Amino acid sequence: MGEMANQIKKEHEYISLRLEILKNIFMKSKPAFIINIKDLRECIRFHAVYTSMCHNGKEDAIIFKNLQGKGIDVFYREINRLSMEHELCNDLIYELNESLKTWDRSENPYELLSPDFMMCTFDYINHVESHIKNEDNVLLPILEHFFSFSEQEKMCELLNKYENTILEKPENKDMIKNVDYLLRKYS
Ligand SMILES: [Fe+2]
Ligand SMILES: [Fe+2]
Repeated sequence: MGEMANQIKKEHEYISLRLEILKNIFMKSKPAFIINIKDLRECIRFHAVYTSMCHNGKEDAIIFKNLQGKGIDVFYREINRLSMEHELCNDLIYELNESLKTWDRSENPYELLSPDFMMCTFDYINHVESHIKNEDNVLLPILEHFFSFSEQEKMCELLNKYENTILEKPENKDMIKNVDYLLRKYS
């Protein structure tokens, strides 16, 4: 497997594992009302920054763009579908973030755990899981077929540069460490 396909596959595994935290926050917090809002907020932040901005952002800005550059019209529909799935990821995360803001302003600490919020969280988990499955099945073979090992190597440098500009921002510096802590806490 080329370096880029391998990196994307590993990032999918990395994200999938961290989706488990979100599931476990709801499943392992008993009763439901003692859900730790700080942990939940940190999880949503991770998916907004890492999953949406970093990972999906790299795929949109670098991988999908380069595929278009190769004139691969035959895959237009598939790539377009994956790109639209990114937009839905962003919409769901936006909604969850808005709910968190409402909770900040609310005097009722339980308002956040409305059925709507829970539904939106589970929609997000299901959507990202199915998106990752789609990319593993559709995108990875396309990458392997259309990009040589040396092209993949060069594109990895661009992917890493893209990721670093986001992760090295001061407000994102502690994010990875925090989510790893949550992974241990809710495992
Ligand atoms: Fe994606
Ligand atoms: Fe992906």
